Amino acid sequence: MVKIAVLGYGTIGSGVVEVLEKNRTVITKRAGEEIAVKYILDLREFPGDPYEDRIVHDYEVIRKDPEISVVVEAMGGVEPAFTFAKGAILAGKHFATSNKALIAKHGAELIAMARESGLNCLFGASVGGGIPIIRPLNCCLTADVIEEISGILNGTTNYMMTKMSEEGADFDDVLKDAQQKGFAEADPTADIEGHDACRKIAILTSLVCGQQVDFEEIHTEGITKITATDMKYARAMGRKIRLLGASYKTGDSYCAIVAPYMLDDTNPLYGVNGVFNAVFVRGNMLGDAMFYGSGAGKLPTASAVVADIIDIVRHKDEHIPLEWRPEKLDLLDYRQLSGRYFIRTAKSVSEIEKVFGSVSYVKAEGIVGETAFVTDVMDGYAYEQAAERLGGILQCIRVK
Ligand code: HSE
Repeated sequence: MVKIAVLGYGTIGSGVVEVLEKNRTVITKRAGEEIAVKYILDLREFPGDPYEDRIVHDYEVIRKDPEISVVVEAMGGVEPAFTFAKGAILAGKHFATSNKALIAKHGAELIAMARESGLNCLFGASVGGGIPIIRPLNCCLTADVIEEISGILNGTTNYMMTKMSEEGADFDDVLKDAQQKGFAEADPTADIEGHDACRKIAILTSLVCGQQVDFEEIHTEGITKITATDMKYARAMGRKIRLLGASYKTGDSYCAIVAPYMLDDTNPLYGVNGVFNAVFVRGNMLGDAMFYGSGAGKLPTASAVVADIIDIVRHKDEHIPLEWRPEKLDLLDYRQLSGRYFIRTAKSVSEIEKVFGSVSYVKAEGIVGETAFVTDVMDGYAYEQAAERLGGILQCIRVK
């Protein structure tokens, strides 16, 4: 029997316990032995909970218990998760986590520590919730140079964009709804400002290039400025607005960005609605592949965490190699990326054409007093110069 400790008895932690309980028979068969939750670390008490007697408040109890061979972290945030992770590995315990903030910041370091001790540090649930994407990148797509990895990486914002578009719903109402459904982060700013997607694309980019990518260097725009008017234009154009995290191989490095994009129906990400996530991968040999599924929520995320626990039990005497070195990759400026821009402005057609040249105008029913258009392909530097010259830009959304 393998004894584990779960840190945090919130949405994901309680989901891990539930998955282990509900699928006990099949999990035992696949892991080769039974997995038992010996401790659950949480500040709170849980009177009446079937696992009430396993609740502890002091991490030292877990760290010092030689019976615990796997520590599963589901608390979120960088600290104290990082201290607990290091403590677990130094005490000879494997570590599994769903925590993207922790992994984006300290993934390379924790993997190196685990490698040195012949242990494992797995984080399959940190990107895409229940979607298998970390393991395929590490095990299946190793023959390719990845030219693009882009995706809908945040369930909360995708749910919100979908509801706003399909139901004409208000930003605040759909946010509340997403929070109630357990998709959003404790502080939803991380979702709506794109910080969550930013950490996830940093993790994916680190895995495809095998080096540390600092999320602080990724240009990040959220969805807070997207309005019902933008949704009307998108519909008139046959497009959907989605928050994407994307990395493109450019020379020896990558350009990475998180921003809302207008997608048309030829884009594989166009059909990704609601809380679903999807990761699109373009390999230089593989061509295109897409990974799609439940990107947030208790049981999908817990399912990926438990899959990591099973993998650890199967490899408890060996380190599963993971290519993510601590040396930093210097990302290129996101303005090197070329594309078209959807723009709304109160400026006149002649002023627009003087600055942007030939553009395609967009009309949407019931909107007056402004002009909307899509530019020709231009890089980010050219766009910034043109936008400054024109002035009075009400909205700008990238078109993919
Ligand atoms: N808040 C995140 C989301 C949870 O909405 O995608 C999963 O990482």
